[in-house]
Amino acid sequence: MKNNRKNLAPGTLLAPVPPAMVTVGDFDNANVLTIGWTGILNSTPPRTYVSIRPSRHSHGILMAGREFVINLPSVSQAKTVDYVGIYTGAKLDKFEKCPITKQKSHVVAPPTIAECPIALECKVYEVIPMGSHDVFLADIVNVSCREDLMDEKGKIHFENADLLAYSHGEYYSLGEVVGRFGFSTDKPEKKTAKSADSAPKKSTKTNIPEDKKLQKANLPLENPPRPFYADVSKMRPPRRKPTDKNKGKRRTVKK
Ligand SMILES: Cc1cc2nc3c(=O)[nH]c(=O)nc-3n(C[C@H](O)[C@H](O)[C@H](O)COP(=O)(O)O)c2cc1C
Repeated sequence: MKNNRKNLAPGTLLAPVPPAMVTVGDFDNANVLTIGWTGILNSTPPRTYVSIRPSRHSHGILMAGREFVINLPSVSQAKTVDYVGIYTGAKLDKFEKCPITKQKSHVVAPPTIAECPIALECKVYEVIPMGSHDVFLADIVNVSCREDLMDEKGKIHFENADLLAYSHGEYYSLGEVVGRFGFSTDKPEKKTAKSADSAPKKSTKTNIPEDKKLQKANLPLENPPRPFYADVSKMRPPRRKPTDKNKGKRRTVKK
């Protein structure tokens, strides 16, 4: 294949990112700013980061309080997300100017934004200067979800959260579901003459059976297929520990 790539200057072209509304400070003196430079660092313990320029008003507040909340917004909140990412809390109270409601967080001092579908409460354990930004590495100490997005079994219905995405200057909605975790390992359905003729046609948009759409999307699978990114160190067969009995001896295979 002919090379179809054009090389660009090194840059931050990772997209989409979650344009999170991050709250800092304590309940009465809280500030909020938009953060695109965030992500998950580790599963156990759950760890995240936010990357903040030292010039931001929130930077000093976070250095002092060392706690923050990552509030994930819906598409309907896009204007507020943009506003709190333009104006500084040094000059105005963004909670007064915007349609966002402070709610007490479960563990940390900064408030949670009531209107946001998901909130990750975080405690900073290290700050690393990177250059233009300082990275605040943090433990996720609590997660809360808007009750109306959960069913009686505790499953979060992300399809109703309408989460907002950000990609190089533009805000996006997520669009339709195109797969679910592990769907690449599904066995192809056998086509019989009967099923080909009489079975109702599946959606050509996603090719996922309706009843399986988003099933267990946010819950651990009971028998998860081995993902492509499986930790190879976990795949090695267990090594025999040398004991005094078998030290120096060669393993013989019984035939
Ligand atoms: C979509 C978006 C993403 C942003 N991401 C970051 C970021 O990751 N880090 C950062 O320091 N500032 C980021 N900003 C800019 C801050 O949110 C903005 O400077 C804000 O006004 C700072 O508020 P403060 O001075 O009250 O702390 C972003 C702004 C927008 C609109």
